[in-house]
Amino acid sequence: MRPFRKSSIVAAAALAIGVVSGVWAQGEWKAPADAKNTKNPLAAKKGDAKLLADAKKLAEQNCATCHGPSGKGDGPAAAALPPPKPADWTSKKLASETDGELFWKISNGRGAMPPWKHLPEEQRWALINYIRSLQPKS
Ligand code: HEC
Repeated sequence: MRPFRKSSIVAAAALAIGVVSGVWAQGEWKAPADAKNTKNPLAAKKGDAKLLADAKKLAEQNCATCHGPSGKGDGPAAAALPPPKPADWTSKKLASETDGELFWKISNGRGAMPPWKHLPEEQRWALINYIRSLQPKS
């Protein structure tokens, strides 16, 4: 397995598609209203160490090139991307969104953010639990 290389290819492909097609998405990114209430089937497992460790690995393989090693939006590919930049997973904005909204956005993508529908749903929800674990407790 060469996870870093794989995610670099994904990052490069997303960049190429975004730039070449010229349809760079701008402005606030909103999930549709009905996505907001989608329940996280792994909500009861927010503190599950094994699940979080697996999701962390997934994030390192698929997301860290853009979102950075600790999810702050400062991955190596982030500098080269035009705005909107990769989101800071630890930001108040993300904390204010529901799991359902994040699930919809991770599944559908926008601009340089690739769609992740090919990941099993359970993995997408696990990634959301992981993102939540990085957010400051308030
Ligand atoms: C090629 C770079 C890239 C990769 C790889 C990537 N993202 Fe993103 N991500 C972005 C960008 C750019 C945005 C901001 C998109 C926008 O606002 O239009 C974003 C936004 C997000 C958001 C915030 C949505 C919001 O507004 O609330 C989440 C959550 C997210 N990404 C999760 C992930 C996850 C999980 C992965 C890995 C499975 C991943 N991303 C991989 C570039 C990337």
